[in-house]
Amino acid sequence: MKLVFVLVVFVTWLAVSEGSWILIVAAHGTKSHQNVYVPLTKELVGRGHHVTLITNYDIGEVAQHDNVNQILLEQLALDTSIFPNMFKALTGTWRDKIEMGVQVARMMFTFPAMVAETTYGDSRIQTLLAKGKFDLVMFSEACGLTCYPFGWHFKAPTIAMSPNVLFPGRAALLGDEEHYSYVPFILSSYTDKMSLNQRLGNYLISKLFNTFVHDWHIDSVHSIFKKMVDPDCPPFIEIEKNFSLVFTNSHPSFSYPRTLPPQVIEVGGLHCRPARPLPDDLEAFVSSSEAGFVVFAIGSAIKMEDMPEEMIQSFIKAFARLPQRVVWQWKGKVRSDLPANVLAVPWLPQQDLLGHKHCRAFLTHGGLNSLQEAVYHGVPVLGFPFGTDQTLNVGRAVKEGYAAKLEWKEITQETLIKSIQEILHDSKYKKSAKRISGMFRDQIQPPLERAVFWTEFVLRHKGTDHLRLGSIDLAPYQRALVDVYFVFSLFFIIPLLLVFFCVRKCCCANKRPAAPPAVRNEQIKKRQ
Ligand SMILES: *[C@@H]1O[C@H](CO)[C@@H](O)[C@H](O)[C@H]1NC(C)=O
Repeated sequence: MKLVFVLVVFVTWLAVSEGSWILIVAAHGTKSHQNVYVPLTKELVGRGHHVTLITNYDIGEVAQHDNVNQILLEQLALDTSIFPNMFKALTGTWRDKIEMGVQVARMMFTFPAMVAETTYGDSRIQTLLAKGKFDLVMFSEACGLTCYPFGWHFKAPTIAMSPNVLFPGRAALLGDEEHYSYVPFILSSYTDKMSLNQRLGNYLISKLFNTFVHDWHIDSVHSIFKKMVDPDCPPFIEIEKNFSLVFTNSHPSFSYPRTLPPQVIEVGGLHCRPARPLPDDLEAFVSSSEAGFVVFAIGSAIKMEDMPEEMIQSFIKAFARLPQRVVWQWKGKVRSDLPANVLAVPWLPQQDLLGHKHCRAFLTHGGLNSLQEAVYHGVPVLGFPFGTDQTLNVGRAVKEGYAAKLEWKEITQETLIKSIQEILHDSKYKKSAKRISGMFRDQIQPPLERAVFWTEFVLRHKGTDHLRLGSIDLAPYQRALVDVYFVFSLFFIIPLLLVFFCVRKCCCANKRPAAPPAVRNEQIKKRQ
């Protein structure tokens, strides 16, 4: 009996340790997108799989692992020099915003072809395409078009990973509805309850977004692949319909709930983890006040030091009036005018701070990953959204009751102190944060475990054909039952029309006014 057990354990170990060969492509996108594919890569290599990772940023912490082969495409790192002052561009006048909009539009139109040419043209990737063998292809959905043909090329199933919610257009490709009536566009300020005007806007903007980032480029990237790699490649739209799974960085505790096609697996917040001990000096600072501490950070893309001096002064003066300590993410040059309760640090161990028992509130721009961490650690939030998806994220957090919002243009010493005091002293914020945190943590399995399970599921079963919706090949009018309504309407309309004409005929026949005989005679006479 014992021998059998040992054998079983050994065979299982062999099966696990053999590992599969996985290609993960994240050749474009921002650093924050790493919060999805980096934890997953670490977990997969930890389980004995071999990962080839194509990225635009050096991910030192995983690149050193024996089972990771990192191909770094440095030239695809986002060039932030085209936005010399992102802070001003996002919070400034209409002119600043339009200038930024023009840059973003220019990127949207030129990037897909550029990313494709750079990726397919790289000699290391050409070797990979010629000689590589993979059991699975995964890619991060930012300029994801480039990655569409890899799965087909390596005869391997494909998993798409969204850094955010399910992108517009993807549900329809998998055979489902887009649900524009209640799924707010990612980059809008709508909620899941929209007026007619908002639904009009939501429909238009979602459609336009999908047209400009997807439909517009799909054929050009396809022809680049055909020219540079393989002329036999089938149309991308066919490949796209065959994706085995789509992981989304969503969960109803911080994204609006919606129905999803069966291939979509929500793994939102998979990077969230319990706090680790802080470095000694930081620990000494945050635990030295009875009143606790507050964290102020706005992510890695926008620089805090680009804030106008007047606004910096508002923050400094408001913070000076707090009994709490403040940990301020600050990469600029060291300031000598900070009050004693404020510590400026260039890089924050954000989760370790948010998970610290003395943490009282989180002042944030409302980036998705930051809000996920706030939810996971149950910390009330004061959000200052700049735009992009932050307005939507903070809107949702306010609706759930664990956040308050302050617009950048409203910021003064007084509005700041008032909002911070409210978050700190109105118990509703803390209560809601705890409630939502409890709900987020109460899942059948943690999101990272779920992502690993489904990744290995696809490896074990070589795809998910059994999850394909029957509607995947129906035309839009068939999915919307327009043809069925039409046939039904014939059943109703034909009898109705018949009745209508009969009734009209009968009535008219009876009711035609008969002229009095005298008149009639005169008429007859006249005709003669
Ligand atoms: C997509 O999947 C279907 C069903 O498994 C298969 O018949 C078809 O050839 C696939 N298409 C591509 C482009 O891989």
